[in-house]
Amino acid sequence: MGRAYNLMHLMELHIQSNETVFEAIVEGVFTRGYAVADGFLPPPETRQIQQAVSSHYQTGHFNAAGIGKGQYYRMNQDIRRDHIHWIDHNSPPDAFVLFFKQLQGLVQYFNRTCYLGIRDMEFHLAVYPQGGFYKRHLDVFRHTHARKLSVIFYLNADWEESQGGQLRLYLPGEDGAEATLDLAPIAGRLVCFNSHTIEHEVLAARRERYSITGWLKDEPALF
Ligand code: OGA
Ligand code: MN
Repeated sequence: MGRAYNLMHLMELHIQSNETVFEAIVEGVFTRGYAVADGFLPPPETRQIQQAVSSHYQTGHFNAAGIGKGQYYRMNQDIRRDHIHWIDHNSPPDAFVLFFKQLQGLVQYFNRTCYLGIRDMEFHLAVYPQGGFYKRHLDVFRHTHARKLSVIFYLNADWEESQGGQLRLYLPGEDGAEATLDLAPIAGRLVCFNSHTIEHEVLAARRERYSITGWLKDEPALF
């Protein structure tokens, strides 16, 4: 009985602390267009994911990423040089279960508190090899606007500023000027931003750079 009570209590604490994180993300996205949440998952789980991505990458399960969608899809090494592997969020490999559980919680929180109508998501693993980058862009395609929010979860332990690879967000600055915000891809950090309004780029990484990247969408995928 006592033990059951304690467990219930712990679970409640866990839910409460998640809600604090979710609330901070929602608040950031709605007031500034973006949010940064460090420690979205605890270090051991984050490490486990990094190891899973790394071994998957080493066995050659990734493809060089292209740009555009459908008939507009093409490769362009001048624009992006990352390698990606799409994953099925409905039945993810073991290492990713907690990540998607936490993400579902975030989606429910978004839908409950601001009627965003997120009905689908798509996620891929991403590895930027040494020297990899992704030039300034928006995450929406010319002909489909289903992507509402971009979400990136970083997996790089002991990342140093001199290793580059920052996500650079282009934001409105003072007096109509443009401002930039550089975010290092440090392990455990989740960045979420409005896919329609926030232009961004990935600066050249001097070390292999790991992440899970995805989009929360307002219509189910057609294929
Ligand atoms: C993308 C992207 C940013 C990052 O994949 O569209 O912008 O920090 N990624 O990995
Ligand atoms: Mn992008």
